[in-house]
Amino acid sequence: MASTELLAPAPLDESWRGYLRSAIGCVSLDERPRRMKVFLTGASGFVGSNLLERLLRDGHPVRALVRRRGAAGGGSELGNLEIVEGDILSPGLASKVDGCEAVVNLVGIIYESRNQTFEAIHHLGTKNLVVAAREVGVRRFVQMSALGARPNNATTYHRSKFAAEQEVRSSRIPWVILRPSLIFGPGSAFLQQMIDVARRVPLVRPVAGTGEYRFRPIHVKDVVECFAQSLSNPEATEKTIDLVGAEEVTLNQITDEIASCLNIRKTPVHVPMPLMRLAAAAFSIVPVKPPVTSVQLQMLEEGSTADPAPMKRIFRIEPTGFREGLKHQLD
Ligand SMILES: NC(=O)c1ccc[n+]([C@@H]2O[C@H](COP(=O)([O-])OP(=O)(O)OC[C@H]3O[C@@H](n4cnc5c(N)ncnc54)[C@H](OP(=O)(O)O)[C@@H]3O)[C@@H](O)[C@H]2O)c1
Repeated sequence: MASTELLAPAPLDESWRGYLRSAIGCVSLDERPRRMKVFLTGASGFVGSNLLERLLRDGHPVRALVRRRGAAGGGSELGNLEIVEGDILSPGLASKVDGCEAVVNLVGIIYESRNQTFEAIHHLGTKNLVVAAREVGVRRFVQMSALGARPNNATTYHRSKFAAEQEVRSSRIPWVILRPSLIFGPGSAFLQQMIDVARRVPLVRPVAGTGEYRFRPIHVKDVVECFAQSLSNPEATEKTIDLVGAEEVTLNQITDEIASCLNIRKTPVHVPMPLMRLAAAAFSIVPVKPPVTSVQLQMLEEGSTADPAPMKRIFRIEPTGFREGLKHQLD
């Protein structure tokens, strides 16, 4: 018997299925995830640490690729976790992936530094991983992309995400590509940055540009649900799916809501985009982690929203709304 069959749930008699279905409500027994060994990249990050916990709780053995041992935090107490050190651009990645049935690639950066460019990390890193996965016979490849990924008239971030998608689509491995909007929840860098600005800037609350840019932020727990299901949900196979939350909000509404939850009563002040761009250009020439980049400003102006219907249909989820999720997090 193959090792994967050993891990598969035992078949259930139909009467038991009916009984259990009504007893546990919404969960269909036919859709319980089959356990599979997952190679997870980006496990030390915001989304990655949440997904790692979920995969282990679901009973999947996980092999996590991290750049620094210890970076993936806890998890071993939750299940079968193996840590391997490496970079997504490392040669010989196949030996690290060998023995895994599925790959989930979450590696990403939000600003470039020296040789850590969007093209290198997103596109060439994904290409390296796809080649490794194909070499060792991986049977599922789940790729983290981003809403707005496209080849033309796009930021370097979105172009590199699209190029990475193309590597996955042409891999000849059954794939799923997920494209989230802004992701929020405990540990979200974008939310933390807005909280810091609201708290630390004296007297006023700066808001970039007009603040009328539209988003559908998605809660990290909903993102994790879609990734976990993508390992085995046949409806997701060979689909590129936008991941968005229940509520469309403008940047003004996002910052107002954060201030309200934190009981901050400062007047919002709109900083004109040309001034923001000047600040971003200045930060780009000093060797520090930039608080804002020109690419981020471009993405902000573009907004990030889409129709939630395909995601809701494929994954059968009702995503959390931004206000509801934020209140829960900050209250
Ligand atoms: N957060 C959002 O709002 C959002 C929205 C849409 C799409 N996404 C995408 O979602 C993914 C995860 O985002 P996140 O917010 O969780 O970001 P994050 O917290 O910065 O995590 C990024 C992960 O990528 C790893 N990584 C970076 N470069 C690497 C390399 N060369 N080799 C191996 N690992 C590398 C990091 O490892 P280290 O710990 O070693 O740095 C970290 O584990 C990214 O692909 C991002 O583009 C995020």
